[in-house]
Amino acid sequence: MHYEAWINERLCDLSKRHLDRHVQAYLEAGGRIRIGDRTYLNFSSAAEALRGAGCGATASRLLTGTLTWHDELEQKLARYKGYPCALLFGSGFLANVGTIPALMGRNDYVFADKLVHASIVDAIMLSRAKLYRFRHNDVEHLERRLIVTESVFSMDGDLAPLQDIAHVAQRHDAMVMVDEAHATGVFGPKGGGLVREWGLEPMINIGLGTLGKAFGGYGGFVACSESMRAFLINHARSFIYSTALPPSVVGAALGAMQMIEESCDLGAQLLKNAAVFRNRLQEAGLNTGNSASQIIPIMVGKNSKALAISKKLREQGIIGLAIRPPTVPQGTARIRLSVTLAHTREDLEHVGQVIIATAQGEGL
Ligand SMILES: Cc1ncc(COP(=O)(O)O)c(C=O)c1O
Repeated sequence: MHYEAWINERLCDLSKRHLDRHVQAYLEAGGRIRIGDRTYLNFSSAAEALRGAGCGATASRLLTGTLTWHDELEQKLARYKGYPCALLFGSGFLANVGTIPALMGRNDYVFADKLVHASIVDAIMLSRAKLYRFRHNDVEHLERRLIVTESVFSMDGDLAPLQDIAHVAQRHDAMVMVDEAHATGVFGPKGGGLVREWGLEPMINIGLGTLGKAFGGYGGFVACSESMRAFLINHARSFIYSTALPPSVVGAALGAMQMIEESCDLGAQLLKNAAVFRNRLQEAGLNTGNSASQIIPIMVGKNSKALAISKKLREQGIIGLAIRPPTVPQGTARIRLSVTLAHTREDLEHVGQVIIATAQGEGL
């Protein structure tokens, strides 16, 4: 199955039946909208009082919610991720929940890593496709159709073997979707992600990201081909039937992008700091799993012990949350640490000392 051909066929069919949808960008939101040199009274909007591009977009993207800021951000995100196109969603959760059921139906198969995020699992449930979970990062366990994984796993901080997954996908003629929520802004050139860092854009059909983590704002997006974008505009229900991202939120993301573009590699700096911190923990005998990113778990095992360590850390001014099932598998409760550039080397040195003493005090 050649997915681009299948997608184009579906798009052609929609167009023949005059059912195709397209986004048009407006300069303003609210009750009056300027398009070119004319002002239109916008009765598609629920909030006539909103002037200009104020707080909310006031409509879904396919009605009058697409503002030129949305267009600009999508074009910038596409370039940033190394894809021809991008499409914004309300959040990363909504991007997953929109994209997977748009592509997959009850006769299809989705292969998802055992540790993928809840939003991916819910998206697959919603699609009614048959779900196969493959053992974490175990490529030999895969078959065909849509393969979904994260590139940096949210609770383990380890990396997916994306090259191997892409090759398996090629062998079995499957599409691949990679959730880069925790890789975007961190890995790759200017934080473009792990898919970019490893040059896998031609083999990965969809790169999903969130604006809520490294970008410090809110929203989600997918980076993909032009036809995939058109397909999602027509089929992703969380895109079609939901209010567009507020202009202020889009503006914040554009500001974050500009800052990333103008700065030297912030992601590389973060990864360096995280590696020093992780080594310190490991040298003291703590188990940080296979973490190779800014996300560093300290494996504890028992829920009660993870809670006790978390409580003791808080008493010493450190927030290190205890992550327990069902977020992680039974028996693998942990303290999850997420290093950011707001943490100085001195902070990390101090936190390292406190964590090591506390964890050892609890018999780790
Ligand atoms: C891997 C992964 N995907 C998707 C999401 C959801 O993104 P958002 O917070 O933008 O809804 C998260 C957020 O926690 C995540 O960790």
